[in-house]
Amino acid sequence: MAENKTDTCYEDLSVQMFQLYLERSGEHQAMLECMNRVLPTEFKRIGEGKSCLDVMGVGSGGGQMDVHILTLFQSIFPGVPITTDIVEGSLKLTDNFKALVAKTPNLKTAPFSWHIMSSEDYVKQAKAKGDMKKFDFIHMIQMIYYVEDLAATLEFYQGLLKKNGRLMIIVEAANSGWDILWKTFQKDLCTFSISDYRSAREVKAYLDKRGLKYDEYPCPNEFDISECFDPMSKVGCELLNFFTARDFYASFTPETTAAILDLFKTKCSTQKDSKTMFNSNMSCILVHA
Ligand SMILES: C[S@@+](CC[C@H](N)C(=O)[O-])C[C@H]1O[C@@H](n2cnc3c(N)ncnc32)[C@H](O)[C@@H]1O
Repeated sequence: MAENKTDTCYEDLSVQMFQLYLERSGEHQAMLECMNRVLPTEFKRIGEGKSCLDVMGVGSGGGQMDVHILTLFQSIFPGVPITTDIVEGSLKLTDNFKALVAKTPNLKTAPFSWHIMSSEDYVKQAKAKGDMKKFDFIHMIQMIYYVEDLAATLEFYQGLLKKNGRLMIIVEAANSGWDILWKTFQKDLCTFSISDYRSAREVKAYLDKRGLKYDEYPCPNEFDISECFDPMSKVGCELLNFFTARDFYASFTPETTAAILDLFKTKCSTQKDSKTMFNSNMSCILVHA
């Protein structure tokens, strides 16, 4: 269990590692393609007949996906006011998000409420106030790994949905490379900021247990991790640090290091044109109100 939940929010080195991961993985592009396939129809239904739309992002990071989501809503409902609440504990990434909003012409004057705190603190604060704002669309993109209590978190945000609203969770797919890595080396990896690794499998198990209705869409992605097998490669080492949330070569025994690299090659990836392509498939889960 993480000692202090704010530790999971990215600052300093984790911001740099995350930015490198985004550049190398093409993950945002894969998400954009998936959202462009799925969201227009959903948004038409969510917003039908509404005179105002309320959107929330949890763990939004630098906000690139949020900007796309808001722009899509605006294009489908031109002239309908949209409010946005952001729950994100990273000061650095929130600054990046604000800078991105400032240079996005269609969002410059849009009302944003910035809750610069962990999801856990937001939940406590909202419950203490009693009067909870409800939302048409809430998204949690690649952040569900970090919340302390998966069930309590999903229950809280699903409970904030307005009629016809949707909670979108984008998470690594069951049996993706990330899932295989973190489940196989759970004992070594789940000891610090992430105490309990979740993929789409755990999210769906919770939704099924509660009998909640949801739709799941594939969000396929893969990328070249060949550099991870060259210990002299700076990029390779930094990617391994991000994959394991640790200083890879300094934190594990030589046996564990070798076993993780072997797993990367044999179970988490496929070989294509002499490249090692990591399976970073994601799932996009839309939970109904
Ligand atoms: C992998 S990044 C994803 C960022 C963004 N959604 C994206 O896809 O670009 C995870 C984000 O979750 C945030 N985070 C981590 N723990 C959190 C928590 N307990 N509550 C809220 N946000 C958290 C991090 O600061 C980081 O911005």
